[in-house]
Amino acid sequence: MARSLLALAKTLCFILHVQSCTCGEAEIIGGKKVKAHSLPHMALLYNSEEEPRCGGTLLSSTWVLTAAHCFKYKIDTVRLGVVTIKNSKTDGFVQARKVARQYQHPCYNADTNIHDLWLLKLSQAVEETTAIKYLPLANTISDPKEGTICMVAGWGLVKVDIKEMSDDLMSADVTVIKRETCNLTKYNNTGYTITSDMVCAGTVEENQVVRDTCQGDSGGPLMCNGEQVGITSFGIGCANRTKPGVYAFLSKQHIDWINGKIKNESYSEECATQ
Ligand code: ARG
Repeated sequence: MARSLLALAKTLCFILHVQSCTCGEAEIIGGKKVKAHSLPHMALLYNSEEEPRCGGTLLSSTWVLTAAHCFKYKIDTVRLGVVTIKNSKTDGFVQARKVARQYQHPCYNADTNIHDLWLLKLSQAVEETTAIKYLPLANTISDPKEGTICMVAGWGLVKVDIKEMSDDLMSADVTVIKRETCNLTKYNNTGYTITSDMVCAGTVEENQVVRDTCQGDSGGPLMCNGEQVGITSFGIGCANRTKPGVYAFLSKQHIDWINGKIKNESYSEECATQ
């Protein structure tokens, strides 16, 4: 009896140990399901084939902020209030709008991923409901300090090897990593430079499952202390401990461009700085 109890205890210890180890390296990866309607500013962006491809945030009744590189997916519809992709076309909480006009940040560069910002003007106003809310940007956003815990969310891949969007909206906490660190070869071996217009964030604890955004999460928000600080932009693979995700930072220059466009669509298109 005592022996079998010991054996049972050993087995339990083993199982518990396995569960708390870092084996789930590649598992928004490493995140959790978001409670329905608890991120009411999250937008899901669809291509002309009605396939979801990117995330975004609803800034006001007619403007959605996302990543410039999502342009390549030929985005033409935005859905708000989505909980699961499978119900997104029938769910009564969902409001769908066509993209009427779109503006990429004038300095966006697909080779360097710099200024990865895209504004979509919707064909018709979206109404605020319990499931849908606007998320106006702050006037200035301070550079998040190293170690700040931020949240990322999206319907992107939950496993690197399963190339399918997640049916559920997922979120995860990621930690801000200093640019100097992110630009070290160990963290960044592809030649991309993390500029002051970008924020790097990932999993810094050695003993925890890696959390990261992944394909399909692009355009979604990086939220730090309740405000949007960035936009999911790129990474080197996903959920690689030493290759953190990179986010377009809502720097003064970016906020000025966004607010300028929202106020007046013919706001200067020129790219003053790279
Ligand atoms: N570029 C991706 C997208 O289109 C986002 C990738 C983020 N990658 C990362 N490792 N954090 O959805």
